[in-house]
Amino acid sequence: MKKKTIIFDCDTGTDDAIAIISALYSQELDIKAFTTVSGNVHLNHTSQNTLNLVDYLGFDIKVAKGADRPLKRKLEITQCHGENGLGSIELPKSKKDFYEKDAVETIYEEAVKLNGELEIVAVAPLTNIANAILKYPELKTLIKHITVMGGAIQGGNMSPVAEFNIFVDPESARIVFESGIPLKMVGLDVTEKTVIEKEEIHKYENLKSKAGKLVFDILKYMVERNEDGSFEGAVMHDGLALSTCVHPEFIKTQECYANVETKGEFTYGHTFCDIENRSSKDKNCNVAVEVDAKAYKKWLFDTICKAEN
Ligand code: RIB
Ligand code: CA
Repeated sequence: MKKKTIIFDCDTGTDDAIAIISALYSQELDIKAFTTVSGNVHLNHTSQNTLNLVDYLGFDIKVAKGADRPLKRKLEITQCHGENGLGSIELPKSKKDFYEKDAVETIYEEAVKLNGELEIVAVAPLTNIANAILKYPELKTLIKHITVMGGAIQGGNMSPVAEFNIFVDPESARIVFESGIPLKMVGLDVTEKTVIEKEEIHKYENLKSKAGKLVFDILKYMVERNEDGSFEGAVMHDGLALSTCVHPEFIKTQECYANVETKGEFTYGHTFCDIENRSSKDKNCNVAVEVDAKAYKKWLFDTICKAEN
């Protein structure tokens, strides 16, 4: 099967890292670049984490730094990924340099080169994607598809009605949702059902590869940070979103009109998803409504085991 050519936009924290590792070992994706943004932690950390991770696992894929702050609002950092974003895990510092172009120029460069075949997987605030569309409007026809980990039909993890990636930069998210680029939203409705429980992580404990050991360490950190209830456990938000690029059958989606609230006093950052098609607006997004979490978790383990060979 022809590999999908993607740019992976991330704010490498713990679940981003799991998603990146699975993307690298899935062998079903041609990753043209990683682009980084402030989100879970500041850009400097998210960028260095990504560069260190890709280099530590022996892959040679460019990492381009992007925005250090949202388009309009003040940057809000989470605490649940620890100070550097990878919890208690310290990867060797890569000796490699970041790509000489920034995230926006890298997205544009690859989109032009691939002439309509570039897909984007965005598991972070959408600032880089929005900045790229603002600078190069022709990207609206050059980018084939965008998979967003973000939003929620109902609920939120930053407010009762807003999910972190959208909440950090609602204005950028709105630009992406209004771009007309084919869009899939993998939100909390399905990612919060995709959790690797404490009693499941032992499967990774005996893996021998660098990737296997690293995944176990990250999962162990994610589970342990949840023990006093202060933070969520090993919720595979980004991992699930990434996996749907190669296994769309892991989720059920519904096409609808979707957009982002950028004015509401109480609803700022809410993803409005007109699932019941009550508005007369054109459908612009496939929103994930159901998930086969068991299938995803089997795929993740089988994919990480590919590193054992
Ligand atoms: O709400 C979950 C999202 O916020 C994930 O992408 C996680 O990495 C954080 O960025
Ligand atoms: Ca993320």
